[in-house]
Amino acid sequence: MANVAIIGAQWGDEGKGKVVDWLASRADIVVRFQGGHNAGHTLVVGDTTYKLSLLPSGVVRGKLGIIGNGVVLDPDALFSEIDKVRAQGLDVGPHNLRVAENTPLILPLHPALDRAREAARGEDKIGTTGRGIGPAYEDKVGRRSIRVCDLAEPETLSAKLDELLLHHNSLLRGLGSPEFEKQPLLDALLALAPRLLPYAEAVWETLDAARIDGKRVLFEGAQAVMLDVDHGTYPYVTSSNTVAGNAAAGAGVGPNAIGTVLGIAKAYATRVGSGPFPSELFDETGKLLGERGHEFGTVTGRPRRCGWFDAAMVRQAVKIGGVNGLVLTKLDVLDGLPELQICVGYRVNGVAMKRLPAGMRAQAAAEPIFEVMQGWAGSTRGARSYAELPAEAVKYVRRIEELVEAPVMMLSTSPDRDDTIALRDPFAG
Ligand code: GDP
Ligand code: IMO
Ligand code: MG
Repeated sequence: MANVAIIGAQWGDEGKGKVVDWLASRADIVVRFQGGHNAGHTLVVGDTTYKLSLLPSGVVRGKLGIIGNGVVLDPDALFSEIDKVRAQGLDVGPHNLRVAENTPLILPLHPALDRAREAARGEDKIGTTGRGIGPAYEDKVGRRSIRVCDLAEPETLSAKLDELLLHHNSLLRGLGSPEFEKQPLLDALLALAPRLLPYAEAVWETLDAARIDGKRVLFEGAQAVMLDVDHGTYPYVTSSNTVAGNAAAGAGVGPNAIGTVLGIAKAYATRVGSGPFPSELFDETGKLLGERGHEFGTVTGRPRRCGWFDAAMVRQAVKIGGVNGLVLTKLDVLDGLPELQICVGYRVNGVAMKRLPAGMRAQAAAEPIFEVMQGWAGSTRGARSYAELPAEAVKYVRRIEELVEAPVMMLSTSPDRDDTIALRDPFAG
């Protein structure tokens, strides 16, 4: 099947939203399969900028959007986002947005616990978005979640809330935070039901019908491989599997349905929140990348940490994520830098390594081994063909391909939808 999955190959904010929007013109359905409103995906279409957190980026192209069961859904966040994009002229409703009926909900007690835990960690905080993502996934695997389908069963809701509050209030009490009462939560959920249930369905059936009809599905990842709960820089990660393999479980399709996997990577590197970042820059160049790349978190507004492209890490993400091709974004941000560096491996306690070690202390100790490359004097900004790129920029891209052991299938040269160079059609497999 000619499907495509898009995942981040670094620490998030690589430009997945832009790439999904661009490719959505060639797809019929766009599916979110993990994460929640911790994601912030920016789409620039002419003079209009859309910032999406929960809505699949395909809604901007008028495509069918699906929120899969692998997502944790904050209903208030969903409806405020729907209101926001409607005010921008987009048509979003149950006719073009479907939500898996087995999707777990984020309730107000989840962000409360997320923030209380972060405060308790002090210096060692993860730097979460504070949106309750971790606690909501914990409840899912703890078999306590309230799911979208429960809104149709008031008795189930009441019993589940008792169990949920027993668990959460014990924790909140221990952390010295205010506890939650049942009735206001139950009332809010009952009031929510008539608004959310029209979006709910067995999306696995919708996706199976799409498969039979030969429709093209685009799986939109959030976060990135280095934030994956298993494969990332644990514990400084998010609480879901961000790799493309999770698109199957998180949407209700078989592993063969995933199709071509595109890994999105910036031509340099950024990270929001705490955790190891071997190629991080603390100098003027780091500041310059942040300013030129407008590197501020889409969700929290926090400045993103900036550094050189880490080819060893992206290679690791390519292998773990099963990435068939790379999309390199923000090449324009490097315009005019006289010299560029690429991290090609690490020295960990005196030992050279080609991959990031798994241990927390070892990761913190990883020192980058850099390769120096010549920059380019000309501009790549807005380029729409390879021929428009300066020779050194092409060399830089080619070197990245060699180091990460994957071909670059697309390049992005500005935030705008149309400033994209497509070298291969990912839907062609
Ligand atoms: P996502 O989370 O992966 O969807 O990425 P974000 O939207 O959070 O962050 C990427 C930022 O880079 C957004 O502000 C985009 O508008 C911007 N962007 C995407 N591609 C390019 C590019 O090629 N050049 C420049 N200069 N900005 C880009
Ligand atoms: P998109 O989809 C960048 C980071 C947070 C924190 C860690 C855990 O826009 O790329 P969480 O709230 O998920 O428990 O926080 O993960 N994080 C992101 N960083 N982009 C994102 O999403 C992120 N989503 C979570 O900053 O370090
Ligand atoms: Mg983002």
